[in-house]
Amino acid sequence: MENLGIINMLEAYKNKKIFLTGHTGFKGSWLSYVLYNAGAIVKGYALTPDTEPSLYSLIEPHIKIDSVIADINDAQKLEEEILNFSPDFIFHLAAQPLVRRSYKEPLYTFSTNIMGTANVLNALRKLPTPCTSLFITTDKVYENKEQDYAYGETDRLGGYDPYSASKACAELVISSYCHSFFNTANFDQHKKAIASVRAGNVIGGGDWSEDRLIPDIIRSIAADKAIVIRNPKAVRPWQHVLEPVFGYLQLALALAADVNKYGGAWNFGPANADNLPVLHIAEKAIAKWGKGEIDLQIDTDAVHEANLLQLDISKAINELKWKPLMDTEKAVERTIVWYKTFYEGNKTASALMKEDILFYQSLLNK
Ligand SMILES: NC(=O)c1ccc[n+]([C@@H]2O[C@H](COP(=O)([O-])OP(=O)(O)OC[C@H]3O[C@@H](n4cnc5c(N)ncnc54)[C@H](O)[C@@H]3O)[C@@H](O)[C@H]2O)c1
Repeated sequence: MENLGIINMLEAYKNKKIFLTGHTGFKGSWLSYVLYNAGAIVKGYALTPDTEPSLYSLIEPHIKIDSVIADINDAQKLEEEILNFSPDFIFHLAAQPLVRRSYKEPLYTFSTNIMGTANVLNALRKLPTPCTSLFITTDKVYENKEQDYAYGETDRLGGYDPYSASKACAELVISSYCHSFFNTANFDQHKKAIASVRAGNVIGGGDWSEDRLIPDIIRSIAADKAIVIRNPKAVRPWQHVLEPVFGYLQLALALAADVNKYGGAWNFGPANADNLPVLHIAEKAIAKWGKGEIDLQIDTDAVHEANLLQLDISKAINELKWKPLMDTEKAVERTIVWYKTFYEGNKTASALMKEDILFYQSLLNK
């Protein structure tokens, strides 16, 4: 496949070895696609895709990456794969990422998200070569006070549900390894640069996960069924998946160049005006597709999920010079057009991703 000619920043990834956990998931597929097209040598480590359809299965014929299907809880296998590959960069995305599933499977969520993270960090400890690593956690790591307040990187961590708590624990594990084994004071000896990244709810074409707003909307519209909305007023920081993907790539390069300045935690989210309620997103999606109706079913017995969540992204804006380039309106529009075109059978997932990346590149170059 031809190179997308993506922006100059990505040229730095050409021929770099990237170990990407969670490459078979939604964000991992987008990151794999961008990195492959930037000329990187990518090795993925994840479970078999478990959605139908699956974005990774759709794009697999269009990208050449070495895909290892294995469990992140298998510390020995993971270590072998990392040490054999000797990556320049690691992006750790593999996780059990769903709040509702975390109520059904709390132990699996804790082990995968906490010990999975520890397993990557511990393999790094054994890796003799320099490596820059980004650990993807979430905006849900903050102790949520359900107040009109945007959480900054130094705010207290917490987590009501098992998913949020598991990711907050993962942050503590990352921080502990950074202090104990990858202290910046001894960087010249270990040569490991580490950051954690906390992004909000991402949307974009190709997510078919359970219990997520956009996939639920798409499944309902495609099946001519009403869209059931249970938590219409919940406010989330929505952003297009390419925003954090490019943010991660930009941060990793900066981190490789200056660990003292770029190590630590980073929020990536939309501008504050784009923290919008679920109902608003559903209405926009329907308007853009041109069909669909909402069935409000307020479930008073539903498991607890945060109602109000906002992120302060001023650190990324001021220190990394990163900023969100699409407002929520645009992000929803591109997402819905992606799915609609895909379901109409007019373009492949790969062609649609390519269009979105080129569109994003045009925003970056403005
Ligand atoms: N999608 C969002 O809105 C969002 C928001 C904030 C943070 N995140 C974080 O981003 C990351 C990726 O999320 P996503 O939306 O792509 O999720 P996803 O469910 O689409 O993908 C998860 C990936 O992790 C892999 N994985 C899960 N359990 C594993 C295990 N035991 N061993 C090996 N691999 C395993 C899966 O195979 C898959 O490749 C996660 O860490 C998630 O917590 C996502």
